[in-house]
Amino acid sequence: MYRTHNNGELRSEHINETVTLSGWVQKTRNKGFMIWVDLRDRYGITQLIFDEERTTQEVMKIASELGREFVIQVTGKVIERESKNPNMPTGDIEILVSELILLNESLTPPFTIEDETDGGEDVRMKYRYLDIRRNPVRENLVFRHTVTMAVRNYLSGKNFVEVETPYLIKSTPEGARDFVVPSRMNEGQFYALPQSPQTFKQLLMVGGMDRYFQIVKCFRDEDLRADRQPEFTQIDCEMAFVEQEDILQTFEGLTRHLLKEIKGVEIGEFPRMTYDDAMRTYGNDKPDIRFGMKFGELNEVAQHRNFNVFNAAELVVGIAVPGANSFTRKEIDKLIDWVKRPQIGALGMVYCRCNEDGTYKSSVDKFYDQEDLARWAEATGAQPGDLICVLSGDTNKVRAQLSALRMELAERLGLRKPDEFAPLWVVDFPLLEWDEETERFHAMHHPFTSPKPGQMELLRTQPGDVKANAYDLVLNGNEIGGGSIRIHDKEIQSKMFDYLGFSEEEAKAQFGFLMDAFQYGAPPHGGIAFGLDRLVAILGGQETIRDFIAFPKNNAGRDVMIDAPAPIDEAQLQELNLQLNL
Ligand code: AMO
Repeated sequence: MYRTHNNGELRSEHINETVTLSGWVQKTRNKGFMIWVDLRDRYGITQLIFDEERTTQEVMKIASELGREFVIQVTGKVIERESKNPNMPTGDIEILVSELILLNESLTPPFTIEDETDGGEDVRMKYRYLDIRRNPVRENLVFRHTVTMAVRNYLSGKNFVEVETPYLIKSTPEGARDFVVPSRMNEGQFYALPQSPQTFKQLLMVGGMDRYFQIVKCFRDEDLRADRQPEFTQIDCEMAFVEQEDILQTFEGLTRHLLKEIKGVEIGEFPRMTYDDAMRTYGNDKPDIRFGMKFGELNEVAQHRNFNVFNAAELVVGIAVPGANSFTRKEIDKLIDWVKRPQIGALGMVYCRCNEDGTYKSSVDKFYDQEDLARWAEATGAQPGDLICVLSGDTNKVRAQLSALRMELAERLGLRKPDEFAPLWVVDFPLLEWDEETERFHAMHHPFTSPKPGQMELLRTQPGDVKANAYDLVLNGNEIGGGSIRIHDKEIQSKMFDYLGFSEEEAKAQFGFLMDAFQYGAPPHGGIAFGLDRLVAILGGQETIRDFIAFPKNNAGRDVMIDAPAPIDEAQLQELNLQLNL
């Protein structure tokens, strides 16, 4: 038996018991006649003591040669510590070791296995198995397990059945590029890895499963960010015989349950906002509503003077930054530089200080008088002591720019509190989105999303105005889930494909199986998918999903530990009938 207890378990009530422990050497302290070793495993650290007078010479010798991360097994007596450590759960006791077995040696690890390590991101990722020995990483993985279990239990309790769907499939249109897998047995043909199980879960509804979920890997070849990985996990769900309201209620229930169970936070009914309102008020379809700084549109109160920059703009819009009148001129100049960076792309920023005495001082005082500025303050909700930041330009661009500024300022002012949770449903998404590159409309969510009742006709005349039965769940400014009510009528689905520019043959080749299935009594259905990695990260008070994934990819999509992707050898290429044109 390798152990009778783990390293986080022993307390003073165990004193005088003989125990066996196993684990890794965290650190050793050698005074010659006495050696202390901190022994670590997943559960904690226990101090071992080797003492010349009470430990055999042979054991003393092995103990004196132990290095960091050696794996050992010890047997000894639990004794009371002379100097107790109140910061350690096992800090009242130590083990007076009588037997020591060296189970394995270790090279010196390339970084310290401590909460605050000296290892940079790259080296930690290369030796991720050592990184996982550190508390913060391990705790994140355990936390992910806790969230996942809570999700499974909750959904299972609501009659959802977890069904696995295949990974080797055909392209699913979620808007990213596919990862493809060549088929050896079917020359010149490829599988695509699923961007989501979308079509399969719809087929499960046709199959009468009624309520499906799956905690499932999805694969998307897209540019990576802190909240995106090329392979990530969804809590994918679908329900039959439901309307949008049923889905919102069900998954609001799940989210509320998780917040309560995991974070002890009770939240009432989630607010809802239309997509149009979210864009108008926050410049963003995933607003962080933990703080204000709502957009104030200023066209009416800023385009009546000779300030051509504003007069020529489609939209003039500002936010009141709380307490930011205290910013120095230098700080404001830095902010202006920040919005002018290419990543943000604003041409400049106008600002107006709201003084405590009720007067205003703006960067465009040449054009606007106190009365004008008071109206700006009114439109943005600015109070004395605030700073109004104003951007102008094309509506979509300027909204995105001001939204980025709002988030940056909130971060700097400490308004994005990780222990505060503000969920929000964003509803009534447009069905279609204009794509500059291909110069045509494409499905904003995916082509199986149904338009709002009675809006199908608008498709021909004002396609951009058609709203969908589509919704996102936003948590603290992050899109943690999205879904829709689907089209379940073959005619409407083929009209939609036609509208989206699929020829009849293309639609048949790509989605014939779904259209076929719809001829055999498809029930009305709809669903949602949560991004599990994002959900876990946000519940954990962070936004970088990498920290909650055991073996993540870096920003270039590489796994630096196993060194993938990698070339394959000539024989394998030949077997797959592939030729490289490098
Ligand atoms: P959608 O594309 O909105 O919907 O994806 C659902 C959720 O998955 C998460 N997500 C990601 N997380 C990490 N890395 C990524 N690259 C990534 N991409 C998406 C987000 C997102 O909200 N089939 C539809 C769902 C449906 O209609 O039911 C779908 O996949 O949190």
